[in-house]
Amino acid sequence: MGPNPNPTANFVEDAYVSQSVSQQEFRETLALWPSGVTVVTARVGDLPLGMTVSSFSSLSLDPPLILACIAKSAKSHDGIVRADGFAVHVLARDQEDISRLFARPGPEKFDEVPTDAGLFGAPLLPLGVARLVCSHEAGVDGGDHTILIGRVLEVARTDLSPLLYWDRDYRSAT
Ligand SMILES: Cc1cc2nc3c(=O)[nH]c(=O)nc-3n(C[C@H](O)[C@H](O)[C@H](O)COP(=O)(O)O)c2cc1C
Repeated sequence: MGPNPNPTANFVEDAYVSQSVSQQEFRETLALWPSGVTVVTARVGDLPLGMTVSSFSSLSLDPPLILACIAKSAKSHDGIVRADGFAVHVLARDQEDISRLFARPGPEKFDEVPTDAGLFGAPLLPLGVARLVCSHEAGVDGGDHTILIGRVLEVARTDLSPLLYWDRDYRSAT
């Protein structure tokens, strides 16, 4: 192991410094990044697709772009990244059940939640904090994920409190 890149850490009690970044180190460190929780949905033909996604971010104001990182291993990956458009649902504090539902693999999850049809046929879930309906702008290779970039065409929002995710658990802001 080389010199400590962060010498001040030596003076912080309980700080953990590692220069060999195994997958476990990577996961455990990134789990400490707090995020909101979204569900990304799209439709390909008759098939509704949807998955829980926390890797959502604002990307550009002009034009209005957002991004989400979609695992290549996800069953929905090919459909969601090839669809002409998709919807991003920012979940509210009381929508943990929807997050858990859409973190399960496969299309059956749509049997358990009511939806409307949005632009591009994207299934619209019960509105939580906000919803952004996007056209497909680009899909960029990002290792074992595809960085899906959407141009925001329609938004909806409420004043509900968000569902948060931190250290592998659901949290609320208040
Ligand atoms: C809180 C939370 C956040 C998640 N964030 C992502 C994410 O950003 N990108 C991703 O590809 N999968 C993410 N997942 C995992 C997918 O939701 C999960 O693999 C799901 O089964 C995919 O559905 P599918 O296989 O039907 O496509 C997350 C799961 C949870 C519980």
